[in-house]
Amino acid sequence: MALLEWTKEAFGTNVSKADEQHQQIFAMVNGLHESLGSGDRQAIGRQLDALIDYVAMHFKTEEDLMQAHGYPEFEAHKAEHDNLVQTCLDVQKKFHAGAIDITPETTTFVKDWLVKHIPNVDKHYGPFLNSKGIA
Ligand code: FE2
Ligand code: FE2
Repeated sequence: MALLEWTKEAFGTNVSKADEQHQQIFAMVNGLHESLGSGDRQAIGRQLDALIDYVAMHFKTEEDLMQAHGYPEFEAHKAEHDNLVQTCLDVQKKFHAGAIDITPETTTFVKDWLVKHIPNVDKHYGPFLNSKGIA
């Protein structure tokens, strides 16, 4: 079974661009998680790098939307993003230096972050952005 499964009920923000990107992130985390047993460090590294790049792009999409429309919770939301990015960059650096491996604990940490952040933090911008004509 996949590590993460996107459903509208649990994860829908009612902002289509965010929902599409969240589904892509889930697919990439699942792919990374499933490749861990292969022992192919190069393939794992490529998926890790692609995931981190995509997540950074996604955070920028959300931040640009929130900022463009004067979202009042922007700063607190961005702080959560910055926190995860910092952790990811640290893991990425250590992985490529050969100091650590990516393990199921790593992908589960990302999963836990997403299943908290999307319903509790991302979903809050839905009604606000909808009221600004963003759907
Ligand atoms: Fe998000
Ligand atoms: Fe977010």
